[in-house]
Amino acid sequence: MTSVGIDAIEIWTGKLKLDLPGTFAPAKGEDPEKYTKGLGLYASSLPDSYEDIVTMGANACKRLMERKGLTPEDVGRIDVATESAFDNSKPVSTYIAGCLEQVFDGDFRYANKGERKFACVAGTQSIDDAYNWIRAGRNRDRGALVVATDTALYERGDSGEATQGAGAVAMYISEDPDLVELSPEQGYGSMDETDFLKPNQQFPSVDGKRSIQVYLARMREAVEDYESVGGDLHPDDFELLPFHTPFPGMVRRAASLAYRHTIRDTSIEEDLADEIGRQPRPEAFDSEDEYLDAMGEYTERLVETDTYGEWYDRVVEPTLDLSREVGNWYTGSVHVARASGLQHALENDWDLTGKRLAVASYGSGAQAEVHTEVVQPGWKEEIAHLNVLEQLERRYDLAFEEYGKIHDTHNHDTDTDVEPMTTPEGEFVFDGWGRMGERKYTYVE
Ligand code: HMG
Repeated sequence: MTSVGIDAIEIWTGKLKLDLPGTFAPAKGEDPEKYTKGLGLYASSLPDSYEDIVTMGANACKRLMERKGLTPEDVGRIDVATESAFDNSKPVSTYIAGCLEQVFDGDFRYANKGERKFACVAGTQSIDDAYNWIRAGRNRDRGALVVATDTALYERGDSGEATQGAGAVAMYISEDPDLVELSPEQGYGSMDETDFLKPNQQFPSVDGKRSIQVYLARMREAVEDYESVGGDLHPDDFELLPFHTPFPGMVRRAASLAYRHTIRDTSIEEDLADEIGRQPRPEAFDSEDEYLDAMGEYTERLVETDTYGEWYDRVVEPTLDLSREVGNWYTGSVHVARASGLQHALENDWDLTGKRLAVASYGSGAQAEVHTEVVQPGWKEEIAHLNVLEQLERRYDLAFEEYGKIHDTHNHDTDTDVEPMTTPEGEFVFDGWGRMGERKYTYVE
């Protein structure tokens, strides 16, 4: 079977930074440690006034295409995953293609373009669409551009405001990929839920505490569903475990449950039994509540063990480095987590070729997806090209009043103009509205 997967990846962050412990927490009269220790976040990336989901997506694609020497004719699909779209008919992918046609010779007229929606899991679903299109033999030797781009803003004062972020991840999906090969096996956990939604409104309606429980429940189902086709997962089977990361604290919880599940009936559980006992089994309890309480207590003991700590620090923690500095990018978040882990692996000279990753995506509403990936020989070169750390370093550090103005500028219900805080250079910028209400874009040298 031909190998299909992610050939290349590029990340584009919004150019502004909101320092959460330094600027946001004091302005809200909150303890900075709620952000750094509780949520695990240090900063949010936000878009400058000339940036939006199109500019960030197009800028990531331009870097990717130039680096890989791709022309528009090499691209047979452009799929955009977003939950921040501003047009209910014309897909964001057409705007992005229009931008790219300003700077590349040729055009994307024979490429199939679309937009995917299922909250944050849509980025992974777009990769699936590309994978299936290639596997079906309909790609005519071309690859697919998948762009996960979002401006994740919450209403001012909403508890989700702490987890905002903005940025884009562009990926090229192809045969014989340089970065990772995708497993044909996948697992899903999907139920009709009302935990986080945007019923024709820009900012989400969120039941934050419930959304955490729904994330964990759907993720457990996706793991079990994956195991029904891919075989039992064991913690030693994968080198990194990138999760959808709305905030690192969420992943801290999800990882402990994943570890507990994957060590059940293994020698790891046996080896830990003297220290913390064996995992409770449901048949030993009179009621489900008693069983769940015992499981909760076991998990508390488990995460305190050195065995768990060593696994978490090696396999999960490196995937959170970028997220801590950028916040939630919705559709791009799990792909930022993968890149973060691989960047850590490169910096620490890990030998990952041929090794596996387990990737856990999630979207509210709600659906989780789990699959595995095999790291390809070209991974080091691919990851070495990422310049996301320099981009993060260059972000403009917002004062709290400036943050308020930027939030208003991107609020579709307010008509606020604010002077840009950064100077665009060699990138696409938003350039006003056209005669039919379309957004217009220009490339700035
Ligand atoms: P909150 O009420 O602001 O925060 O809401 P909190 O009081 O729950 O505190 C957060 C954590 O900080 C807690 O840790 C506190 O104990 C701790 P936990 O107990 O949970 O481990 N804390 C402190 N720690 C140290 N020192 C202190 C301190 N103070 C507090 N001084 C909430 C938090 C996540 C609910 C909120 O930010 C929210 O509503 N976020 C948006 C929803 C969300 O991100 N949900 C995640 C799952 S759903 C998902 O991932 C999908 C999503 O990406 C959307 C999509 O799919 O499209 C969101």
